[in-house]
Amino acid sequence: MSSNTKNLHFWWRVISSVLLLLPSFALNSDGILLLSFKYSILSDPLSVLESWNYNDATPCAWTGVTCTEIGNPGTPDMFRVTSLVLPNSQLLGSIVADLGMIQHLHHLDLSNNFFNGSLPSTIFTASEIEVLSLSNNVISGELPAELIGGLRSLQLLNLSDNALAGKVPPNLPALQNLTVVSLRSNYFSGSVPSGFSSVEVLDLSSNLLNGSLPLGFGGDSLRYLNLSYNKVSGRIPEEFAKRIPENATIDLSFNNLTGPIPESLPLLKQKNEFFEGNADLCGKLFEEPLLDSFHVVRSTQLAPFNSSPAI
Ligand SMILES: *[C@@H]1O[C@H](CO)[C@@H](O)[C@H](O)[C@H]1NC(C)=O
Ligand SMILES: *[C@@H]1O[C@H](CO)[C@@H](O)[C@H](O)[C@H]1NC(C)=O
Ligand SMILES: *[C@@H]1O[C@H](CO)[C@@H](O)[C@H](O)[C@H]1NC(C)=O
Ligand SMILES: *[C@@H]1O[C@H](CO)[C@@H](O)[C@H](O)[C@H]1NC(C)=O
Ligand SMILES: *[C@@H]1O[C@H](CO)[C@@H](O)[C@H](O)[C@H]1NC(C)=O
Ligand SMILES: *[C@@H]1O[C@H](CO)[C@@H](O)[C@H](O)[C@H]1NC(C)=O
Repeated sequence: MSSNTKNLHFWWRVISSVLLLLPSFALNSDGILLLSFKYSILSDPLSVLESWNYNDATPCAWTGVTCTEIGNPGTPDMFRVTSLVLPNSQLLGSIVADLGMIQHLHHLDLSNNFFNGSLPSTIFTASEIEVLSLSNNVISGELPAELIGGLRSLQLLNLSDNALAGKVPPNLPALQNLTVVSLRSNYFSGSVPSGFSSVEVLDLSSNLLNGSLPLGFGGDSLRYLNLSYNKVSGRIPEEFAKRIPENATIDLSFNNLTGPIPESLPLLKQKNEFFEGNADLCGKLFEEPLLDSFHVVRSTQLAPFNSSPAI
C-alpha cells in the first residue's frame, strides 16, 4: 500500500465514522460503507468505481451495486444495498471489514480480481449473505470454524483459486441452505468434511486434504463431488459408497486410495478416469483389474438395476 493511499484511507475512516453518526447527511449508511471499500482499493485500472460518488443520496446507481426497497419509505435508508457484483474488474485491494457490515447484503461477487489478504470476520457474520463468490483472487488465511455458522443464509460459496489454508470448517455442512460449495485450488488440509445433507455440488479438488474418506459423508442431494488432486488415502469404505446418490458424479482421481472399489451402483457408474492416479486402487473396469472383483462387477452390472442390493 503506498503511503498516499494509506493516508487517504485513514482520513476516509475518520470522516466516515463521523458521517455514520449524522443520519441526516446526504449519502446513506450503506453508501458510506461502500465508499470506505472504494478508498481501500489500491488499483482500479478499468475505473469501474468511477461512478461511486459521495454526493449521491444512495449508492443504488453505482456500478456493480443493486438495492432493494427494505427500509422505511421516505427515509434515506429506504433503499438498502443487497448486492455487490464486480467480477473481472482487475481490482487490487483487500476485502475490508466494512463490506461485511452492509446489513442486507445478499450477494457478493468479487471473483476474478486481485484481492489479497485474509477475509475479515465481519464477512462471516453477514447473516443475510446467500451468494459469496470470491473465486480467483489471492485471498489467504483460514476459514474460522467458530464464525462460519454465522452465514445462516448461505446458498453458494465459491472460494476456488485462492490461497486459503487450514481445515475445511467441520461445521460448514451444517449450513442448511448451502447447496453449492467450491474450495477448489487452495491449500486446505486435514480430513474430508462429512455430514453434508443439502449440498448438491461440492468441489474440493486440488487441495492438500488427507486422511481417509469419511463414512458418513451423507447427502441425498449430492450431484457432483470432486476430490481429485488431494492426498486422501486408505480404502474407499462401503459406507461412503452406499450413501452416494445413484446419479452423482464422483471424481476421486489423483489421490492415494488403495484396495478394491466397492461394488455399489453409484461407483460402478463412474468413468474409469475418476479413479485414475491412485496407485493401489483396483477393481471395476480397470485394464488390469484384480480378477475376482472384475468378474463380480461385470455380473452386477448385467443384472437389472432394481435387483441390485447396492442402494
Ligand atoms: C496486497 O498486494 C499489495 C500490492 O501488491 C501489497 O502491497 C500488499 O502488501 C498485499 N497485502 C497483503 C495482505 O498481502
Ligand atoms: C466458481 O467461480 C469460478 C470463477 O467465476 C467459475 O468458473 C466456477 O464455475 C465457479 N464454481 C462454481 C461451483 O460455481
Ligand atoms: C433457507 O431456505 C428456505 C427456503 O428457500 C427459506 O425459507 C429460509 O428462510 C432459508 N433460511 C435462511 C436462514 O435463510
Ligand atoms: C475435478 O477437478 C479436477 C481438478 O480441479 C478437474 O481437472 C476435473 O475435470 C474435475 N472432474 C470433473 C468430473 O469435473
Ligand atoms: C437419474 O437420472 C435418470 C436419467 O437421466 C433420471 O431419469 C432420474 O430421475 C435421475 N434420478 C435422480 C434421483 O435424480
Ligand atoms: C500413499 O500411502 C502410502 C501408504 O499409506 C504412503 O506410504 C505413501 O507415502 C503415500 N503417498 C503419497 C504420495 O502420499
